[in-house]
Amino acid sequence: AEYGMILTEVQGRVGLIRLNRPQALNALCDQLMAELADALKGFDKDPAIAAIVLTGSDKAFAAGADIKEMQHRTYPEVYFDDWIGERWEAVLTVRKPVIAAVAGFALGGGCEVAMMCDIILAADNAKFGQPEIRLGVIPGAGGSQRLTRAVGKSKAMEMVLTGRMMDAAEAERANLVSRIVPLADLVAEAVKLGETIGTMSAPAVAIAKDAVNAAFETSLTEGVRYERRVFLSLFGTEGQKEGMAAFVEKRKPAFRR
Ligand code: HXC
Repeated sequence: AEYGMILTEVQGRVGLIRLNRPQALNALCDQLMAELADALKGFDKDPAIAAIVLTGSDKAFAAGADIKEMQHRTYPEVYFDDWIGERWEAVLTVRKPVIAAVAGFALGGGCEVAMMCDIILAADNAKFGQPEIRLGVIPGAGGSQRLTRAVGKSKAMEMVLTGRMMDAAEAERANLVSRIVPLADLVAEAVKLGETIGTMSAPAVAIAKDAVNAAFETSLTEGVRYERRVFLSLFGTEGQKEGMAAFVEKRKPAFRR
């Protein structure tokens, strides 16, 4: 598909999506979000793709929802138009792993989209924040919930109540990101991570993603029960036979795609 505000490419088994609206620091307007949703869906359906990397520019992953587009919206408009649900939750419906490769600003909705992804890799210049309070509103795409689960109450409160940004080092200390990589290596590292995931058994990857996500939705007892059920189900896959045979035979597993 041809897009105006994102760029897509395939690198090996990884689908790469770059937010590409540099004049507005990748502000997430309706068109951009619709294109992102479409591209995510396309890669999710494509059997040649094992994982998806979502990135922006060196200066901004995304500086948030488009303030100029939102500015004059009325309450009935924003209430009845399923504005957030329809376009903003696309990342959450993707079954393959989605890696956010964040350089520069990830603010407001940009931080929220990154937090919807399965893994966040941060460049050393990354900055995360929920500055909505400075606009007279609050996070609206999950920020108050996902940031709190990631970094805990005190830090989330401070950020949401003041709009203070976290740099990459603080984000790593606070467990918002899995690790920091040099800016110049960010996308290559994220693609490499996607490729590594792509060498694993596909059913195991899909189920592993679901199981980790279940930790955010269920009690410990329910979550452990869920894990046990899906773990056992993997004994019905070729991947389990191949992975364990390869270990015993002291060779590398070759999982069928
Ligand atoms: C629309 C934006 C924008 C945004 C930047 N721009 N962020 N336009 N919406 N969120 C535009 C600027 O207006 C400017 O356009 C151009 O991008 C470059 O930005 P500057 O501000 O000149 O750059 P700089 O001085 O480097 O400052 C960078 C910045 C600042 C600190 C990131 O741009 C900023 O504070 N942006 C807003 C961040 C924010 O509040 N995000 C939360 C949005 S609310 P011109 O035309 O002037 O050159 C939200 C709620 C989501 O996300 C809820 C779910 C739907």
